[in-house]
Amino acid sequence: PESCSQVPEGWRFDCYPERNVVVTEDMCHARNCCFIQSSRGNVSAQNGVPWCFYTPDYPSYELMSIVDTEMGKVGKLLRNKKTYYPKDIDALQLEVLFEEDHRLRVKITDPTEKRYEVPIDVPVVHKRASNPSYTVDFIKEPFGLIVKRTQTGAVLLNTSIAPLFYADQFLQMSSSLPTRFIYGLGEHRSNFLHDVQWNTLTMWARDVPPMELTNLYGVHPFYLSMEADGNAHGFFMLNSNAMDVVLQPAPAVTWRMIGGILDFYIFLGPDPSSVIGQYLDVVGKPAMPIYWALGYHLCRWGYKTSNKTWSVVKEMRNYGIPQDVQWNDIDYMDRSLDFTYDPSGFSTLPDLVKDLQRHDQHYVMILDPGISNSQPPGSYWPFDEGKKKGIFINDSNGDILIGKVWPGLTAFPDFSNPDTHEWWYQNLQRFHNKVPFDGVWIDMNEPSNFFDGSLNGCPDNELENPPYTPGILGGTLKGKTVCASARQKISVHYNIHSLYGLMEAQATESALRRITKKRPFIISRSTFPSQGKYSGHWLGDNRSQWKDLATSIPGMLTFNILGIPLIGADICGFGGSTTEELCVRWTQLGAFYPFTRNHNSIDEQDQEPTAFSPAARTAMKEAILLRYSLFPHLYTLFHHAHVSGRTVATPLLFQFPTDEKTYGIDKQFLWGKSLLVTPVLDAGRDYVVGYFPKGLWYDFHTGNSLISSGEEIKLEAPADKINLHLREGSVIPTQRPNTTLWVSSGQPLHLIVSLSEDGRAKGDLYWDDGETIDSYESNQYAYIYFTVEQNTMMSEVLHNHEEATYITVETASFYGVKAKPENVTVNSQEAAFTYLDNQVLTVTDLGLNLSHNFTISWM
Ligand code: GLC
Repeated sequence: PESCSQVPEGWRFDCYPERNVVVTEDMCHARNCCFIQSSRGNVSAQNGVPWCFYTPDYPSYELMSIVDTEMGKVGKLLRNKKTYYPKDIDALQLEVLFEEDHRLRVKITDPTEKRYEVPIDVPVVHKRASNPSYTVDFIKEPFGLIVKRTQTGAVLLNTSIAPLFYADQFLQMSSSLPTRFIYGLGEHRSNFLHDVQWNTLTMWARDVPPMELTNLYGVHPFYLSMEADGNAHGFFMLNSNAMDVVLQPAPAVTWRMIGGILDFYIFLGPDPSSVIGQYLDVVGKPAMPIYWALGYHLCRWGYKTSNKTWSVVKEMRNYGIPQDVQWNDIDYMDRSLDFTYDPSGFSTLPDLVKDLQRHDQHYVMILDPGISNSQPPGSYWPFDEGKKKGIFINDSNGDILIGKVWPGLTAFPDFSNPDTHEWWYQNLQRFHNKVPFDGVWIDMNEPSNFFDGSLNGCPDNELENPPYTPGILGGTLKGKTVCASARQKISVHYNIHSLYGLMEAQATESALRRITKKRPFIISRSTFPSQGKYSGHWLGDNRSQWKDLATSIPGMLTFNILGIPLIGADICGFGGSTTEELCVRWTQLGAFYPFTRNHNSIDEQDQEPTAFSPAARTAMKEAILLRYSLFPHLYTLFHHAHVSGRTVATPLLFQFPTDEKTYGIDKQFLWGKSLLVTPVLDAGRDYVVGYFPKGLWYDFHTGNSLISSGEEIKLEAPADKINLHLREGSVIPTQRPNTTLWVSSGQPLHLIVSLSEDGRAKGDLYWDDGETIDSYESNQYAYIYFTVEQNTMMSEVLHNHEEATYITVETASFYGVKAKPENVTVNSQEAAFTYLDNQVLTVTDLGLNLSHNFTISWM
């Protein structure tokens, strides 16, 4: 039809998304779509303008009725023309739920037959929002849903731009985006700001070293999007089936899922931080980590014995390099069997663990889900007991599905079954009785399988070979995992595959609560929305290359907006061999990952800080000490993540949403609201160029000020330095560092204050015993608020607790004091101070108890 040529390229919605086919005109017309060969590229496939696209009036659903309900609206949708996929669901129910003033939920379901829905807890709301910040409009035919921000009229959702599909194994919905600025949609390797030039982001949990344009370990169908005026909103598709999320230059987004229902939320912000808080109100806010989770972690694959592991710890101690946690990879296991340890190479493991604990250090070991099924009966309790209890994933015949992982042939625990949680707990408890570990690293939980599907392959059915397969690496659902048609307690694997890591984390979290009776420490490779409640994450099998150093920042920022702030990449790189320079720069940046772990692959060159020259070693030690000195601030940021869903590592745009120059920045980031990190990401550099949003900034180390008009600034960055700047107007509590956080966290505080142009600042400190479960919820914490104005700092204890009585405030530095004071008083008593030409006032020997209010004034 003529209307085809009127569709602008950026607005063509792909009618033939199948891969590995060259779409001909006939094939396209068979779908009643427009066919126009693209001016660019010669494949009709992904990442280019589609040749075959929907006509503007392509048949879709019709809205037959819409009525008001207590919670919003409910409507009926009807399709009277079949699509080209089997099993259209012709009649649908539409529910629009005005859940909160800043949150709208839309659910489209099959009213006649219950379909699979994602089993995560989301709020059940009974009262309609009284003053919603959005309006919802409907288009009758073809059906469309339009959501606008009331205040500005910005269109946040408009599904009328392409037809709606709702077949049994093919659900598709498109929407325009207000701008091209879109973030989130993990887990992928990409810039923080996604590209909307025909960019297909496929989601299906997968074990693969991170690369661009590939589905990776985790699945997070959530995005944050900026509007033209600096407002932000979020969108969450609550669906766990394999899917494509297609971004195109219109700008627009298409959700293409092969199961479940359409169930989505819109979060109105209006600022980016509130969007994340509102998203996490739905999926759950991150756990408050145990204090030592924020210390330095050392790990590698290839510590062949416990004594070798021990000697690394001892070397770290000898050089006084801070270390809170030592890890072991699969090497510790007896023949790679979970819940065992190698009786020869690792015979001293229990002693090593006790030695760590005597030194206020901690021990974490890996566990993989694959449980060997081939040990002599009666010799391997985890399998024998699991088989007896029937807790393993079955194949479609109902027999235990057998795959292959490190120990050889394995069965896979079905964590969707509550009995599996009990069995998992018992295994952990039995092992803990022998090796009193402090935390657990759960790996290979996509779940990863060295076979595609199983030892016996997979049957040929519609779950294994759906009518449409998203752009999964390798092109099949079963690739490097278990069969899609495998049976689990709550559903077929097809539906719950990408939830495996989440469910394993849930089982591990509840087991550790029971065993250690402290806040559980868990790091998981595969993740799904709400994961932050149970575990942190690392970015997987990166390489020892400069590029991987740089891409770790967008990875870290993305997981912060996905509610998993306890995130980091393998410092110095996992695969391949690092260089000294790369490892130093990586340790400096890694000191600002919320989760900081050096991890290395087997047979690679050593990369512990102790493996390098004295200069490199010292630079690394300084970087880690710097992190330890910032522990009170970092801990406070995690508290805000836990309570309010704030980010810890924060994209610049979150604090400067009206400065479009920040929208693409992912080589720098903030801790919280005010500490700007500008790392060196290139070889052979002794400088770095960073962007400074408009305003007054201070060098964190010296207090030297710089005024930016919103410009790039070249900074010196010798090998032993990472650039840190403090935004005007903040108070950051720091602490004299030591080699473990246990010791460090008892040291006196040094408050660092960056005065704004008009002499103001504020900041806070959350403090508790560092390990009790629910300290905040059970009122066992101290919270102190600092404000500075008119030459006076006030420290106010808003919530007091014994823990604060152990801490003294020793020093306070004020950056930006324009003239040398004549005198300084502390609680009205005269106090000692120094004043430097760069306008830094430091008040020393304070000896103040943190649990009491105090004031510091200068005149
Ligand atoms: C996986 C993990 C990696 C680990 C290795 C051996 O590749 O991602 O971190 O070292 O398995 O267990």
